[in-house]
Amino acid sequence: MTDTAFQAWMGDVQARMEAVLARLLPAAHVAPTRLHEAMRYAALGAGKRVRPLLAFAAGEVTRAEAPRLEIAAAAVELIHAYSLVHDDLPCMDNDVLRRGKPTVHVEYDEPTALLVGDALQTLAFQLVAEHRLADEPREQLEMVKLLALAAGSRGMAGGQSIDLEATGKQLALPELELMHIHKTGALIRAAVLIGAACGHPLGAHQQAGLDRYAKSVGLAFQVVDDLLDYEGNTATLGKTAGKDSKQGKPTYVSAVGVAGTRELAEELRREAHAALAGVGERGARLASLADFVVLRKF
Ligand code: IPE
Ligand code: IPE
Ligand code: MG
Ligand code: MG
Ligand code: MG
Repeated sequence: MTDTAFQAWMGDVQARMEAVLARLLPAAHVAPTRLHEAMRYAALGAGKRVRPLLAFAAGEVTRAEAPRLEIAAAAVELIHAYSLVHDDLPCMDNDVLRRGKPTVHVEYDEPTALLVGDALQTLAFQLVAEHRLADEPREQLEMVKLLALAAGSRGMAGGQSIDLEATGKQLALPELELMHIHKTGALIRAAVLIGAACGHPLGAHQQAGLDRYAKSVGLAFQVVDDLLDYEGNTATLGKTAGKDSKQGKPTYVSAVGVAGTRELAEELRREAHAALAGVGERGARLASLADFVVLRKF
């Protein structure tokens, strides 16, 4: 796929997701207006929409229909948006800037930010319960379970807990990897698998390949996030650069240095591409997304 075709596709999915989320989120004029307004503030506007892009690209592999993918992608993105709001709270990373705007607790207040996270998360599950995403109810229940596991204590929330406990310490590489796989990798993996589950079932070999791809990209995403925190600047990132070292967060940069981190990201990119070997032509966009995740500058 040419770069321009891929860029155009990304732009289309991003614009479509903005419209879908704007439609699915409660209107700001509906009571309780402050909460609804803050939910929209957190979820709409900037954001790379990497998880929706992955869900759509995975749906292409299984020939999933767009209306299903829109809901699946929105559900994952809402969980992600919630995780950012809570991640930025003073009791966690204490960040004041997100997606180029003041964080939710700065723009509103801490209790509102807490409730925004709660409400975005429950809205995600409401969507998956409310819309037909699979032919069989049993398959759809599997999707709910996948999302719950990815977001919960054995996924993102668990990873955040490891992150908090590890602050001020240096982790050995296996522990660092475990933290990253949980706090970021799990939800990214879920985006791929749930997107694919909206379409026709894959054979066991292809499904295993897709899962390997999803795991590699999920870990790569946080490895590159560590790198960008170190190398990037606040204006481009839309969030405060250089915070990890200031806060004593163990990262790949602190563990293996910039060159070592870049090498690992490249290795994960190769793994992601290799994992798609059995998927064929329909995996082209997933392959391009692996490149985007590793080579991005923001
Ligand atoms: C940032 O995620 C938090 C991590 C999980 C590393 P993104 O880099 O996907 O943030 P947005 O959605 O584009 O703002
Ligand atoms: C965030 O990791 C992971 C989640 C939000 C679950 P970071 O704390 O590194 O994310 P940023 O850098 O603030 O976006
Ligand atoms: Mg954090
Ligand atoms: Mg953070
Ligand atoms: Mg970070």
